[in-house]
Amino acid sequence: MDLYEYQAKELFAKHGVPVLAGEVATTPEQAREIAARIGGETVVKAQVKTGGRGKAGGVKLATSPDEAAEKAALILGMDIKGHTVHRVLVTQASDIAEEYYFSFLLDRSGRTFLAMASVEGGVEIEEVAHTNPDAIARVPVDALLGVDAATARSIAEAAHFPAETLDQVADVIASLWTVFTEEDATLVEVNPMVKTPDGKVIALDGKVTLDDNASFRRPDHAGFADPAAADPLEARAAEKHLNYVKLDGEVGIIGNGAGLVMSTLDVVAYAGGMHGGVKPANFLDIGGGASAEVMANGLQIILSDPSVRSVFVNVFGGITSCDAVANGIVAAFALLEQSGETVTRPLVVRLDGNNAGVGRRILTQAALPGVRQVDTMDGAADQAAELAAQGA
Ligand SMILES: Nc1ncnc2c1ncn2[C@@H]1O[C@H](COP(=O)(O)OP(=O)(O)O)[C@@H](O)[C@H]1O
Ligand SMILES: [Mg+2]
Repeated sequence: MDLYEYQAKELFAKHGVPVLAGEVATTPEQAREIAARIGGETVVKAQVKTGGRGKAGGVKLATSPDEAAEKAALILGMDIKGHTVHRVLVTQASDIAEEYYFSFLLDRSGRTFLAMASVEGGVEIEEVAHTNPDAIARVPVDALLGVDAATARSIAEAAHFPAETLDQVADVIASLWTVFTEEDATLVEVNPMVKTPDGKVIALDGKVTLDDNASFRRPDHAGFADPAAADPLEARAAEKHLNYVKLDGEVGIIGNGAGLVMSTLDVVAYAGGMHGGVKPANFLDIGGGASAEVMANGLQIILSDPSVRSVFVNVFGGITSCDAVANGIVAAFALLEQSGETVTRPLVVRLDGNNAGVGRRILTQAALPGVRQVDTMDGAADQAAELAAQGA
């Protein structure tokens, strides 16, 4: 789960990372009250789960409570990279002498945790990463040893933080490591970490991704969830315990096993290249059981995505045999029919593995409308892509 900046900063404050006072507003009037409470200059910041808010005009300075209300009115409702702004953070404004970058993250390819730090932080960090990658220090962190004061200091030194900031920066880094481990995060990012003209180091922005696999032991994190911001299809799928991720293509995908579904996405994307660039519309792993109910729930979610023009059901029978899956598809059609949702978009089914022959016969005999079978994964992907292209 990705957190909003204001939530990330709550966790920062809890573990002693220096942040500025701030509160969240959903109306200009609230923004005015908060600005009056904070006093002095404030900054009104769009709360959306995407970066680049500053460049998009979602971060604005206000010199008075009235101006904070005005800026909030401008920012609330704004669209930033497809995210509508429903909330703003009204926070103390800071003078800035220097902007730095810092993050802890899970480096999957390196099979380790990684600290990344740079004295060239701020809104251009992506540009720095591109044009001057050496300006970003990358220090692997041993999961067993973690980050103590000495390690924190050596990370700060590796990134060439100015000598007069080293003590403070090392403290902040050690506290951020506490956030990372104590809150079960996979990413903790501060950009910018700033030095003020009077030499204080503060986290001015914050981005935290929590590891959902650890949510069972972090009950207090439940309050961070924001169902309104989740994709509505993903939210419905989660209610039905489906392993579903919405993508932006046209070919609906159902498969059994995460690995098979991942490679199905690849072959459909490849086949789509030959058919006008159609792409997979989702990831959906119905797992080993593949009961009629799960199949029906899966089909229902996929078919309620208006961009889906064809569906590819790719099943490799293992412990669950293909005849069970075929019966599941037949029963799913009946369930959907009962609930008044006739399947109108074409379905390409590929069954292979345990009892594939029996499964294929069941589907042939059922003669479900719009369902066709293809024996190979590549052939089925090609046909599903072609049907999606025709349905355009
Ligand atoms: N409280 C603040 N006081 C002064 N300047 C700020 C404050 N918060 C953000 N800024 C400025 O706005 C820039 C962008 O804000 P940031 O929170 O990093 O949003 P984003 O990364 O989404 O663009 C920062 O690099 C900083 O220069
Ligand atoms: Mg930022």
